[in-house]
Amino acid sequence: MANGLAVAGGGRVVTPVLERLTPAALEALVAVERAGQAHPWSEAALAEALTSPAYELWGAYAPGAPAELLGHAALYRLPFEAELQAITVAPGARRRGIARCLLERLLARAAAWRSERLLLEVRASNAAALALYAAMGFREDGRRPNYYPAGAGRREAAVLMSRPL
Ligand SMILES: CC(C)(COP(=O)(O)OP(=O)(O)OC[C@H]1O[C@@H](n2cnc3c(N)ncnc32)[C@H](O)[C@@H]1OP(=O)(O)O)[C@@H](O)C(=O)NCCC(=O)NCCS
Repeated sequence: MANGLAVAGGGRVVTPVLERLTPAALEALVAVERAGQAHPWSEAALAEALTSPAYELWGAYAPGAPAELLGHAALYRLPFEAELQAITVAPGARRRGIARCLLERLLARAAAWRSERLLLEVRASNAAALALYAAMGFREDGRRPNYYPAGAGRREAAVLMSRPL
C-alpha cells in the first residue's frame, strides 16, 4: 500500500510516500533508527516487530527516490487502545512534516482498528517530540518519575500522553 501526502514544514514542501513496512525494509530501518535515535531499537527488536501481527510499521519514503527511507513509526495494537511505540525521522529530513504525516497515518490505522485512544510515552527532556505530540492534539495524562536511564547514573521521567480517536 502506498499513498503520497502533500505536507509542508520548515519552509519546504515535501511529498513523502507512506508504505507499510515489510521485512525487506529491515536494513534501511536499522540505519534510520541508528542515525536518528539516541536510544535506538535493536535490529532483533525491529525484525520481530516487522513480522508480529500486533505491530504495524510504516515508512516515509522520499518522493522520486523510492529506496530512500526518511522516517518510520511503529503502531502496537492493545485490546482496547493502540500505542505509538516509536517514531524516528532521519536527521537530514526533519522539520518537513514527515513525522506529522506518519502520525496521521497511524491515527487513521488505530481508528480503523476501533481503538479508543492512541497512547505514547516520551522522555521529559525530548522537547522536539513533546512539541510534535502537542501539535498533533495529544494531551499529558501523567508522569512516571525516574523511568528512563539518562546516563551517568541519572534517570528521567516518562511523560504519558494520549489522544482520543
Ligand atoms: C521528534 C521527531 C520524530 C519529529 O520529526 P519531524 O519530521 O522533524 O517533525 P515534523 O516536521 O513533522 O514536525 C511537526 C511539528 O512538530 C513540532 N516539532 C517537531 N520538531 C520540533 C523541534 N525540533 N522543535 C520544536 N517543535 C518541533 C512542530 O510543531 C512541527 O511543526 P512545524 O515544523 O510546522 O513548526 C524527530 O525530531 C526525531 O526523529 N527525533 C528523534 C527520535 C525521537 O525523539 N522520537 C520520538 C520519541 S520515540
